[in-house]
Amino acid sequence: MAAQNSSATVEKSNHGSHLSLQCETIGTDTTTIRSLDWDRSRFDIEFGLRNGTTYNSFLLKGEKTALIDTSHTKFKDTWLALLKKNIDPKKIDYLIISHTEPDHSGLVGDLLDLNPEIEIVGSLVAIKFLKDQIHRSFKSRTIKSGDNLNLGKNTSNDIEHLIEFISAPNLHWPDTIFSFDHGTNILYTCDAFGLHYCSETLFDEDSEVIADDFKFYYDCLMGPNARSVIQALKRIDKLPQIQTIAVGHGPLLKHFLDLWINHYREWSSQRTKNESYAAVCYLSQYGFCDRLSQSIAHGIGKAEANVELIDLQESDPQELSTLISDSSAVIVPTWPNQPKAELQSAIGILLAALKQKQWVGVYDAYGGNDEPIDVVVNQLQTLGQKQIFTPLRVHEKPNSNTYQRFEEAGTDVGQILNRKKNIQVIKNIDGELIKAMGRISGGLYIVTASQKEDRSSRSGAMIASWVSQASFNPPGLTIAVAKDRAIETLMQVNDKFVVNVLQEDNYQHLFRHFLKRFPPGANRFAGVEILEGVAKGGPVLVEALAFLDCVVSQRLETSDHWIIYAVVNHGSVANSEAKTAVHHRKVGNNY
Ligand SMILES: Cc1cc2nc3c(=O)[nH]c(=O)nc-3n(C[C@H](O)[C@H](O)[C@H](O)COP(=O)(O)O)c2cc1C
Repeated sequence: MAAQNSSATVEKSNHGSHLSLQCETIGTDTTTIRSLDWDRSRFDIEFGLRNGTTYNSFLLKGEKTALIDTSHTKFKDTWLALLKKNIDPKKIDYLIISHTEPDHSGLVGDLLDLNPEIEIVGSLVAIKFLKDQIHRSFKSRTIKSGDNLNLGKNTSNDIEHLIEFISAPNLHWPDTIFSFDHGTNILYTCDAFGLHYCSETLFDEDSEVIADDFKFYYDCLMGPNARSVIQALKRIDKLPQIQTIAVGHGPLLKHFLDLWINHYREWSSQRTKNESYAAVCYLSQYGFCDRLSQSIAHGIGKAEANVELIDLQESDPQELSTLISDSSAVIVPTWPNQPKAELQSAIGILLAALKQKQWVGVYDAYGGNDEPIDVVVNQLQTLGQKQIFTPLRVHEKPNSNTYQRFEEAGTDVGQILNRKKNIQVIKNIDGELIKAMGRISGGLYIVTASQKEDRSSRSGAMIASWVSQASFNPPGLTIAVAKDRAIETLMQVNDKFVVNVLQEDNYQHLFRHFLKRFPPGANRFAGVEILEGVAKGGPVLVEALAFLDCVVSQRLETSDHWIIYAVVNHGSVANSEAKTAVHHRKVGNNY
């Protein structure tokens, strides 16, 4: 069936927002279906959108047919209908998943309803994430950098659609891969090089119109992973001449390719100049390395420190040596006790590049035949390097609790790397102002949260005083939670938690207990009396004066805290005579 080049129906969604679809040919045997979301005003919770956005998917028809990405669920009916006009879903052989963010993978389940035989192609991490997302079995193929998928030639012409995959972790999701079609020289990058700009203009005809949005998008989504951007650029530099960058958001890039690519190069090298970072090494497709390393990296990012994820099996030797020797901390997984020659050589390069002043940390890959963790630790400390965390041992198949422990260890790494910088920032604030801020006082509370998953559970607790009632109806409150706080991960929108109110004359031992420095993943409730089954959000402390069972409704970002607004569903007071413990301060640059 011929491609339907059209600006298809303009739809009103249930929320009254303005949605439409567009379908155009962008190269030989190649069609884009773009979902235009004109009014979308928030994205990724952390930043506002000025000009809506688009979700772009692509249909490639060689001898075999592949679809690259789907769309957001809000386009379910219209997108699937337009896809069917272009191809019988039963004839789609592959669905290439650039990454598993729901605005691109939201309709994967619906597509599989139409054709359960589709083979889903993605990075190992993407396939794992997708299984968690769509809760059903599907045919899959995991690919890594350098792998190819040959779609062959369409009968109507002589172009062979050989797709090469290029791994681009963290741009902007951990599981991201780019796809390059050697037949059309189109590079599919999804989030990278994108911009939130909704218009029916298919290409970047006028660079000035979109330049500000292009930069804004880079700053919000790509800049925080500038080192990963540089690594990805090095990989795409090796490709033949790129004709078009087919992005997942906004207009496709064709007319000013050098300009856009050079912007990414310059902005990223500016950001990485003189900044310390942690090199988190992993082995793709070995044990649970991918997800475990991602958890450490996520934890480091929470503390606003820089991180570079390095696949030991895939790295260029020169690049590996430079990344290791320039880093402030090196985090390494256990490796197989009989590594293949290439990996053996990468390990040799890593060990040779280590410097005495660096911090080192080791984690279990849980690969089945790993070198014992203590052997790896010893090899990493031959020059007298200091351990940045106690070796992260894994004794059973990783579960949510393991990932929480790894994330918390990562946050410790980030805090150590940023310690000097953060102290300096606080010192620079005007002293009088800080004293005046210190006159703001609050109550004293223990916030608790717990979440159960299949075989495991995660929990957290923290002392808080930046708590305030924020609405009457529904009853609501806000808590300012530091971005690098362990419990922050358990306080995303729709997550539940409990505020335990401490009592004026009976809080010191609870206060001391929860203020201890807990090692990553520690059970913070050991030795504390709790009431079981009273609240949905988390443990209620026996000695709390009152508790409030909350659900997170919104999050507002500040420079170093998330302001979490939650609706209170249930609450109870244990002692109506007693008063809330109050916290008075002298300075405002601490709690
Ligand atoms: C009196 C007092 C009040 C605090 N209030 C807050 C708060 O409102 N928000 C916050 O993020 N941390 C607050 N903290 C800091 C954390 O309770 C505590 O340092 C933290 O639990 C340790 O970090 P972690 O949980 O990430 O390991 C407060 C600490 C004290 C001593």
